[in-house]
Amino acid sequence: MANIKSVPFTKERITEIIEKYPTPFHIYDEEAMMHYAQYFINSFDWNEGFKQYYAIKACPNPYIMKLLREQGMGIDCSSMAELVLAEKIGMRGEEIMFTSNNTPDEEFKKAVELGAIINLDDIKHIATLERAAGLPEMVCFRYNPGALKGGNIIIGNPEDSKYGFTREQLIEGYTILKEKGVKRFGLHTMVASNELDNDYFVETAEIIFDVVAEVKEKLDIDIEFANMGGGIGIPYKSEHKPVDLEKVSAGIKAKYEEMILNKDLKPMKIFFESGRAITGPYGYLVTKVRHIKETYKKYIGVDATMANLMRPALYGAYHHITVMGKEDQPHNQLYDVAGSLCENNDKFAINRLMPSDVEPGDIIVIHDTGAHGHAMGFQYNGKLRSAELLLRPDGSVKEIRRAETLDDFYATIDFDGVEDFD
Ligand SMILES: Cc1ncc(COP(=O)(O)O)c(C=O)c1O
Repeated sequence: MANIKSVPFTKERITEIIEKYPTPFHIYDEEAMMHYAQYFINSFDWNEGFKQYYAIKACPNPYIMKLLREQGMGIDCSSMAELVLAEKIGMRGEEIMFTSNNTPDEEFKKAVELGAIINLDDIKHIATLERAAGLPEMVCFRYNPGALKGGNIIIGNPEDSKYGFTREQLIEGYTILKEKGVKRFGLHTMVASNELDNDYFVETAEIIFDVVAEVKEKLDIDIEFANMGGGIGIPYKSEHKPVDLEKVSAGIKAKYEEMILNKDLKPMKIFFESGRAITGPYGYLVTKVRHIKETYKKYIGVDATMANLMRPALYGAYHHITVMGKEDQPHNQLYDVAGSLCENNDKFAINRLMPSDVEPGDIIVIHDTGAHGHAMGFQYNGKLRSAELLLRPDGSVKEIRRAETLDDFYATIDFDGVEDFD
């Protein structure tokens, strides 16, 4: 079978880019990413106040965030570093969602200082937030529906998951907020990751809308927004079908009309905090073949490692691989595609059928690395984090993060101190 996932550059163009920016690097296709961002937002244009908060953990690059913000997206942060990134590019107030867990006080303080919407993961965090930063006017809770919802391989079963409030805790939590003078309320849930089933998101909306009705009935509280979380999957395999957001939106709209508007509940805003779907398919890890090795198996040794892309080693995740210029050749040779870490799971593919004549110097493109690719990078074995490049709509390339150097790697060590040390 020949290779059937496309790349947004020719072999000649990527060769030119490599002359300026040595492999390995991640390169992101701006035009396709922005096109998807618009499609996402347009799909929910029926809902007044709709907002998609880009989960910056997927690809925490401020250039990309700036572009997505221009399309109308907010930012979903989960850590101090992510809040500071939002701050550095001038994001403030309700365009920031702060969805964290096991949260330190200083992150609550920072989030409140920026005016972010705070999404609490634990009923006890009401007191923590109040002590650390004072309760803001609006607070959101993360709901864990437990056995009501099936999970999936990355996030696990909701009942086993560490995130969120139980249903009883939600009622108790909103009661406390109301007593303490909080005026505006949000509700969030996220029970899937990399989910491709359209219906899954409609069912999630149904679960949320049901809680909204219960909170109104029991506490006379109007929930202002329903945050459906992230978890929208992407077609890592060419036979996968992407989530049809227009269908999802139509399904959510029908449930919204039935369970909110027809029940005389107050109109509410729909939010998402999608990360993977926004950047994942538009990123490519570009690497070169260094060696071909033959023992009990045949190995393609490349100059990237799992430090550049950890998902295959971490979850056995599939990432499509293209050998530039050899796309149409028969893929009839089994290989493991490996990096150079001293870890046997440092592999991008195991037993993958690829062209039989892959050779040193070939350019290999690993697909769908725009989310949880560079972001999950680490430096074991002294492997330095790579550059990130942006392929602009006019075909030019902008370096949006330089590659690390050995000076960066050793920046936290005082070598003079080592010399004096005995
Ligand atoms: C709370 C929360 N929101 C949003 C996201 C983004 O999810 P995804 O990238 O699957 O859309 C995550 C991912 O881990 C998350 O934990």
